[in-house]
This record gives sequence, structure tokens and C-alpha cells, in this order.
Amino acid sequence: MRPRDRLRIAMQKSGRLTEPAQDLLTRCGFTFRQSRDKLFCFGEGEPVDLLLVRDDDIPGLIAQGVCDLGIVGRNVLNEYELTAGRENDLALAEWRGLGFGRCRLSLAVPQEMDYAGAADLAGRRIATSYPGLLGRWLREQGIEAGVVTLAGSVEIAPRLGTAEAICDLVQSGGTLVANQLREVEVVLDSEALLVGPQVLPADERGDLVELLLKRIDGVIQVRE
Ligand code: PRP
Ligand code: ZN
Ligand code: MG
Repeated sequence: MRPRDRLRIAMQKSGRLTEPAQDLLTRCGFTFRQSRDKLFCFGEGEPVDLLLVRDDDIPGLIAQGVCDLGIVGRNVLNEYELTAGRENDLALAEWRGLGFGRCRLSLAVPQEMDYAGAADLAGRRIATSYPGLLGRWLREQGIEAGVVTLAGSVEIAPRLGTAEAICDLVQSGGTLVANQLREVEVVLDSEALLVGPQVLPADERGDLVELLLKRIDGVIQVRE
């Protein structure tokens, strides 16, 4: 890993985790110079900077040592671990569960479809952005089904006829209702995590991580 004297934290540029993640760092006493919609935010007090990126890119950025830590959902972390080619990559660890961004990765079927159990998915096509997590669940259930990988708008796949079921994130359930789908299985429970390498860098960044963890633990304790 290239030595660096500033800590770099990756977080979602725009999405559900963006605001709570930035709030958390603000409550930890970190302040940043650039506006929130910029890609790079320079830490003013402590040498801790932010990189604002697509959430799906966060695990890879940490694994490649480009960023030291990240705030990302367990769904994204686990999907990365199941699907990325890991040559030269650092092993990742869940440093803290952050208690926000709670959601689940679930299977859903059209309202009118009969569903008594996982066996009813055999031979069907399931649309998802999480082929790794869905594939693992199907293997565990001993079910063979087709997996149709889509980058987004997974919920319209049954209406388009490209799949009979979907496997996607559910938070309020509003998206499923709006698309006449019903949730039938939970594949993964997720929340925002502080993610880092299993082994901390041996330079100043290691101390900065410890400072950050201590402050995060303080903020989480106050909230509980
Ligand atoms: C997720 C998911 C659904 C929606 C579910 O998408 O793909 O579209 O949230 O939430 P609900 O149960 O509260 O309706 P997200 O907003 O994370 O964006 P993405 O699909 O672009 O990843
Ligand atoms: Zn995403
Ligand atoms: Mg969506």
C-alpha cells in the first residue's frame, strides 16, 4: 500500500446513505471544505478527507487501497465479496454497524402468483442487481433458477416479461406495492457499515482510524 498521511473515507455520492453518513462524520467533529456535491471533500480540522462515489464502487476502492475506509451497505459489501476477482486485493472487514440505512434484500413475486415456498422458484427467471447474493441463496435452498442481472429498475422486469420474480432491496415496501409485487423471502438484512481493510495501515492513518472509531462509538452510544 502506498503510504499516505491523510485518511481517505469513501461514501455514497447521492443516495439513501449520503445524508446520514455525512451527519455521522459531522457529529464526530470532522469538518470538510468542499460542498457536499463535490467528488472530493478536504478535511479542515483532522487530516481526514472524503471521496464521494457510487456505493457499488466503495468496496473495490478500499480493497485496492485507494481509500482507507468506507461507509456502505452490507448488501453492497457482501455482493462485492461474492463476485469480485480478488487478486492483489486487501481482505475487507466490517468495522462497525452504523444503525442507519436499514433495509433487506428480498425476493418478491407478482401479487397474483402462487407462492408456497422456495421450490416454486425452480425454473423461473429472477431479475436482480445482486447475482452473487441471490446465487448463494438459491444454492443454499437447492433451487435452480435463471438469474437475470440488471443494473437498475429491477421492479419492472415482471411486467416487461423478462423475469417472473425479482430480488431487490426493500425499505418501506413502497416500490413493491407500486409495482404489484409481494415480498416472499428475505435473502439478507442490511444496514450501513463502516468498512475497512482487515489489517490497518502501519502509518499515521492507523492512529486516525482509531480516533475515528472512538468518536463513532461515542456518537452511537449517545444515540442508543
Ligand atoms: C432500492 C430498490 C428499490 C427501492 C426500495 O433502490 O432498488 O427501488 O430502493 O425502497 P422502498 O421499499 O422504500 O420503496 P435505491 O433507491 O437504493 O436505488 P437504486 O435502485 O438506484 O440502487
Ligand atoms: Zn447502488
Ligand atoms: Mg431502486
